[in-house]
Amino acid sequence: MYYPEELIEEIRSRNDIVDVISGYVKLQKKGASYFGLCPFHNEKSPSFSVSGQKQMYYCFGCGAGGNVFTFLMEYENYTFVEAVKALAQRAGITLPEAEPSAQEKKEASLRQKLLEINKLAAKYFYFQLTQPQGAAARNYLEGRQLSHETIVKFGLGYSNKFSNDLYQYLRSAGYDDYILKETGLVTLDEKRGGYDKFWNRVMFPIMDINNRVIGFGGRVLGDGTPKYLNSPETKLFDKSRNLYGLNLARRSRRPNMIICEGYMDVISMHQAGFDNAVASLGTAFTSPQASLLKRYTDEVLLAYDSDGAGVKAALRAIPMLKEAGLRSRVISMKPYKDPDEFIKNLGTEAFEERIAHAQNSFMFEISVMEKDYDLNDPDGKTGFFNAIAKKLLEFNQELERKNYIEAVARQYGIAFNDLNRLVNRYGLSGYGQNQTRASAQDRSDGGQTGQKRRQEKEDAVVTAQKLLLTWLCEDTGLFDKIGDWISPQDFTDGLCHEAAVCVFEEYEKKKTVTPARIISLFEDKEEHDAIARAFNTTIRDENDKAAREKAINETVRRIKTASLEHMSKNARDIATLQEIIRQRKALQKLHISL
Ligand code: GTP
Ligand code: MN
Repeated sequence: MYYPEELIEEIRSRNDIVDVISGYVKLQKKGASYFGLCPFHNEKSPSFSVSGQKQMYYCFGCGAGGNVFTFLMEYENYTFVEAVKALAQRAGITLPEAEPSAQEKKEASLRQKLLEINKLAAKYFYFQLTQPQGAAARNYLEGRQLSHETIVKFGLGYSNKFSNDLYQYLRSAGYDDYILKETGLVTLDEKRGGYDKFWNRVMFPIMDINNRVIGFGGRVLGDGTPKYLNSPETKLFDKSRNLYGLNLARRSRRPNMIICEGYMDVISMHQAGFDNAVASLGTAFTSPQASLLKRYTDEVLLAYDSDGAGVKAALRAIPMLKEAGLRSRVISMKPYKDPDEFIKNLGTEAFEERIAHAQNSFMFEISVMEKDYDLNDPDGKTGFFNAIAKKLLEFNQELERKNYIEAVARQYGIAFNDLNRLVNRYGLSGYGQNQTRASAQDRSDGGQTGQKRRQEKEDAVVTAQKLLLTWLCEDTGLFDKIGDWISPQDFTDGLCHEAAVCVFEEYEKKKTVTPARIISLFEDKEEHDAIARAFNTTIRDENDKAAREKAINETVRRIKTASLEHMSKNARDIATLQEIIRQRKALQKLHISL
């Protein structure tokens, strides 16, 4: 359904964000904003801010942010249209009754039906487990020491021995073949009719973060193959974007998340009180899963199997976690195979101990590398240290790199300076970069390469653009002060540019700025976060007037310089180039006073 922009804006403006969010999160006024515990990640001190003035929320911890629509989309898992409807109702606004397109109707009702069927199937499997025919499965779970409470919490069940038991049941519940074949729970065959995917298995319903069943895993009762079967991907079930147990783990008060390999691991960990355990869904860990975890935590502990495959899986996951901005450590399961066995044998306290001593993931990677070298042989040792030196270049930040050099030096008995020199040498030769040689400038700073520097510079410019957007919204008086220097064109970052065009346009027309309105113009959740961040960028000492003035001047200069640089790259004629030169000169005289 398409609603006109003005209507969306009216609904937004008639639902005060502080009121709405107060219904979900306990907020306390602090300065111009309200703060509370972020509902989108686990934290102990409040970093979730809601601004009545901007009509936006932003979490300084996890980066979630947006306007009142975004909040409901995030919290209630609503689509945009659902959020619009809910808020319209809340404000007593009647929405025009237009029919959704046939296609939209079909998709929504399909998803709805699939959710319904999955839920019904989960209930059915659970019921079977409680019946006489479920005795073997009950025994199996008991043998694995799962309590009744745990079985209920995870909604475990049993699929009967007959190959079309569920199919018959779902048909009798009124669902047609055309929809049943979309569930992945049954296969339709011309000769055999409908038959079940799962039979004679212990069933693990897989839920999304909102506790809705989106698929199943099924385990044989004993030693058969395949040991586990999983639902295929469906309109509901995306294995790369969900994690088993996250619906529970997201509510955990523990400071991190634990990733394990198997469903059974997750379940026994939760039963032992580690209610922050999750697992991927019968496939390797993915980048979208890392981003998903980043919403709830800053640190991930890997509790993979202690065998070769587990080590391999950890080595694959570590860079993805790092890429998503997560710290990670590796828990050793030795001498046991996996967390389930570990806990059964050594208990909860021993596992807590292992968590406390989990190995930093970089040191873990190195200890795996070590196995390829013979450290008793001088050549072997040289090879190993060279490999470490190359690897240390993964750290862009000098301080971080130094700290790791120190840790490695201590652990492997090499002098700090020797290793440092080696690292710098690789850095200078541009090792691991897409370029052949680093520039002379880079040589002075411990091997940071030109490419990385460029990246950092770019980031600084984007941050500056975001800062300026924030300030313009907080103090519209700034528009006149910076007007001679900055126009929307100077925002070179794509998203900042779009936001700036809206901001300047609104200011020109109405002499106000409504960042919350601007958010509604963008579609993506990621864009909402990014814009909320852009409007909530802060620096230290903002209350100090001199510092603020200095910051504004520096920020404007940085944005303008980058913009001129950008212009000169694309300049095609003399006149433009001359104009750029003139502006560069003028920029030297820049002084904005508050
Ligand atoms: P238990 O023997 O029940 O303790 O299994 P586990 O949880 O220790 O599982 P394992 O380490 O063998 O495998 C980890 C995960 O990989 C399981 O939870 C499944 O998601 C998946 N998996 C294991 N075996 C199979 C299989 O045969 N087929 C598929 N598709 N997935 C499997
Ligand atoms: Mn196991």
